[in-house]
Amino acid sequence: MSKPKLLVIEDDAALCAQYRWSFAGWRVVIANDRAEAEAAATREEPAVALLDLGLPPDAEGVSEGFATLERLRRIAPMLPVIVSSGQDQRENALRAIALGAYDFCPKPADLAVLRTVLDRALRLRELEEENLRLAAAPRPSPVRDIVTGDDGMLKVCRTVERLASVSVPVLLLGDSGTGKEALARALHEMGPRAKKEFVAINCAAIPETLLESELFGHEKGAFTGAVRQVIGRIEAANGGTLFLDEIGDLPPSLQAKLLRFLQDQTFERVGGRSAIRVDVRVVSATNQPLEAQAGEGRFRGDLLYRLNGVTVRIPPLRERGEDVMLLGRWFLARESMSLGRKNRGFDAGAIAAMTTHAWPGNVRELQNRVRRAVLMADGPLVTAEDLELTPPAAAVRHAEGKGVAAGGADEGGLDLRTARLRVERDLLERALGQAKGSISAAARLLGVSRPTLYGLLETHGMATHRHGTETPGEHGPDDAPPHDATLDAV
Ligand SMILES: Nc1ncnc2c1ncn2[C@@H]1O[C@H](COP(=O)(O)OP(=O)(O)OP(=O)(O)O)[C@@H](O)[C@H]1O
Ligand SMILES: [Mg+2]
Repeated sequence: MSKPKLLVIEDDAALCAQYRWSFAGWRVVIANDRAEAEAAATREEPAVALLDLGLPPDAEGVSEGFATLERLRRIAPMLPVIVSSGQDQRENALRAIALGAYDFCPKPADLAVLRTVLDRALRLRELEEENLRLAAAPRPSPVRDIVTGDDGMLKVCRTVERLASVSVPVLLLGDSGTGKEALARALHEMGPRAKKEFVAINCAAIPETLLESELFGHEKGAFTGAVRQVIGRIEAANGGTLFLDEIGDLPPSLQAKLLRFLQDQTFERVGGRSAIRVDVRVVSATNQPLEAQAGEGRFRGDLLYRLNGVTVRIPPLRERGEDVMLLGRWFLARESMSLGRKNRGFDAGAIAAMTTHAWPGNVRELQNRVRRAVLMADGPLVTAEDLELTPPAAAVRHAEGKGVAAGGADEGGLDLRTARLRVERDLLERALGQAKGSISAAARLLGVSRPTLYGLLETHGMATHRHGTETPGEHGPDDAPPHDATLDAV
């Protein structure tokens, strides 16, 4: 389930079927024409694409294939595209490479060669993403896919790193979008089970009637419609990791059956008689207060006890201090590169809005808002409006139902200078609060240099009482406040 996605753009159904079984290490997504390819490239976020040049309506020629290549290069510039064609191979290969294709494979393809080319393209892509991540994060976290500079979250990552090497059951507790699944995968991928399967099952998404056979599998004839034997997810995870997502939603009948499995690592398929023994590492996750539910008898206490060999609590994004901006900038860099846009940063209003927003959907919400903003933004800087967030100043005005109060110079809130000063002041206060008074941290949050920040504090008469919290060693020679500092191009 942690297989990389391969987008195959090909109209020949027989060939598609052949690719499906030849590329067992990949999750193959098929697109039959240019429109499907474009949709899949953005929606499915494939790691690599394989493009046949002969696509309808020009299945005999190459025009539609090249048009598709050009579109893919524009909408997903990070996606390596491997082009294949059976005609005019030299000419088409040169043209494809000139248009930014990663490689060219003649048709009919030698599958062994193609597999090697795909693996190489995947590695290149991973390296590019790794470079981006290192450029965005001040210090790399111990877990590959987790970007964080927050002490609490770094502690979670170190715990996960340590737990990866052992097989104790781990229970991940965190609000939606905090990274439960990302950490569950990390537990699998950083440990000795990485070569076997990571099998995820969402206990809330599958109807109760189907869940049992999904988990345990069934024998032929076990129930109406059971026309053949089916292997369940537990068995599929043998040697690897089973991820039980939304475990709080597991119905009581299945809680009992799962408990039996956790006690001795054996189970029976539905309708089966013999006990099957497996070696499975169980990681579970929920955003529900399981302990409280167990206390109220809504979740079995003995099951909870089996699941939480170790409980890892993932902090919500709003408690991770500078992470909102750190992750925001990382997503911005990644999304604008993959969508071929040139968004360089967030403007002051966006930062104000991002640092005050409560982020109920946590990292997932941030990622979604930034992605949408990259698509919507006109200029080089993303605004609060692009993020569909309300900057705090406007929010206050809205709540009070009147114009800007400070300065009293405007009735309709249109005095730009006053509004800007207030947003600035607001931002400074929030940044200092979040940075717990550290000037360096606040400057990083705001995306300005320390001298610029001192200048701003001076302008707002906030300079004196804050300086005391800074450690003397942190002051560099560039600390003299400059003139004319503004926050509008961060
Ligand atoms: N610290 C992080 N750094 C980078 N990406 C992250 C981080 N945390 C989460 N993500 C990304 O955010 C998205 C949501 O994370 P994930 O699916 O792991 O959350 P979840 O807790 O399982 O959410 P849900 O409760 O909605 O299922 C994923 O795309 C994940 O890769
Ligand atoms: Mg999840």
